Amino acid sequence: MGEKLAILGGTPVRSEPYPNWPVYDERDIAAVTEVIKSGRWGGYPYPGPQTQKFIEKFAELQGGGYPVLMANGTVTMEVAVRAAGIGWGDEVIVPACTFQATAAAPMAAGAIPVIVDIDPETYTISPEEVEKAITPKTKAIIPVHLGAEMADMDAIMEIARAHNLVVIEDSAHAHGAKWRDKGAGTIGDFGSFSLQSSKILTTGEGGVLLCRTPELAAKAASIIDCGRPHDKEGKLYTMGTNYRMTELQAALGNVALERFPEQMKKRAEMADYMDRLLADVPGMRVLKRDPRHTVRSFYRYVFAIDPDVFGFDRDVVIAALIKEGIPAEDGYPPMHRYDLFQPLNSRLPVPSAFPERFDFEKMHLPVAERCRRESVWLDERVFRAGRKGVEDVVEALRKILDNANELKAAEEELRQKWPDL
Ligand SMILES: Cc1ncc(COP(=O)(O)O)c(C=O)c1O
Repeated sequence: MGEKLAILGGTPVRSEPYPNWPVYDERDIAAVTEVIKSGRWGGYPYPGPQTQKFIEKFAELQGGGYPVLMANGTVTMEVAVRAAGIGWGDEVIVPACTFQATAAAPMAAGAIPVIVDIDPETYTISPEEVEKAITPKTKAIIPVHLGAEMADMDAIMEIARAHNLVVIEDSAHAHGAKWRDKGAGTIGDFGSFSLQSSKILTTGEGGVLLCRTPELAAKAASIIDCGRPHDKEGKLYTMGTNYRMTELQAALGNVALERFPEQMKKRAEMADYMDRLLADVPGMRVLKRDPRHTVRSFYRYVFAIDPDVFGFDRDVVIAALIKEGIPAEDGYPPMHRYDLFQPLNSRLPVPSAFPERFDFEKMHLPVAERCRRESVWLDERVFRAGRKGVEDVVEALRKILDNANELKAAEEELRQKWPDL
């Protein structure tokens, strides 16, 4: 037994807070002030000068695509589905481990999300499970680049080509990431990015959709701009709505892009350090480092604990880590367990019209279930606090391991105190 755990009344490993997110300085204040003084606050007419500058620079960062700026990283996917002509009753394959938006966005366009299991080594969509789920109604796949991992884009694109499917890369976590030196979001037909405040490139709220062709981008721009035409001839009207982002937000994005490369470099260096340190701790598994994933960016650092070594699941480890001063999280529940998608809880038309597709009791997603027991997510803030920031996490994990028997003995009492545990 080592020093007493903070969750059991001991002293935390780390008392110093990790750096805040988002970061800002005088440049952000000046940029927003300038937009305020210009009187051009909103997103109409699309695109405004700040928006145009931001999307050009963003496409440059990812290395391609025709960009359209939008209100958030959920509507980006809904717009992609609609711009691709996918709608009522079509099937869209999504992974079981992701934020609910990946499945809710196709539903907003009337499509059915078909939830498939994930890969045990990366927690991203399993290409084998995608292949098994294809039916004559399948129209698209939405692989999610999760935490700091990219989905196996070679396998996904091969399946998509063989079955003539649209690929929308949910890259909400993958700004700056590259697969075989191609930017996340530029490999499939669409790349969807979130700029919501927790994301590593943020405008408070916001989203960018990278499109494979100018024609798809024109359709997407029309959909977000109340249906106004955005094609060269100015003739293509769509059934659109207002999903524009404001110039005030785009101005913040332009400053954020200046800081981004340095932040990304820092996180990657410290994440490598974390990989090396975790490899020496019993009961820890670093996720697969696929050599085809040539540039890694870190929204969240995800690793797995072995519940057999600890004697309890990751929820207890996470609760103990938080008390030790470490910003740890539990990621996402398996998609079929999200309350939103239970037919009786939802008034969305798609679940009630296709009840057989929403019979979650019958769904078998063993890897996503296992992920729920073993995965631990670390906030990107950990990786901007120098080597000590990483070392404190490892020290806290070792402390939990050393005290695993005491923690196990107290588990019942802790669960009563915190029913969510
Ligand atoms: C994987 C994933 N997809 C989509 C979204 C939706 O983005 P937004 O919150 O900007 O709508 C998020 C995060 O919020 C996400 O984590």
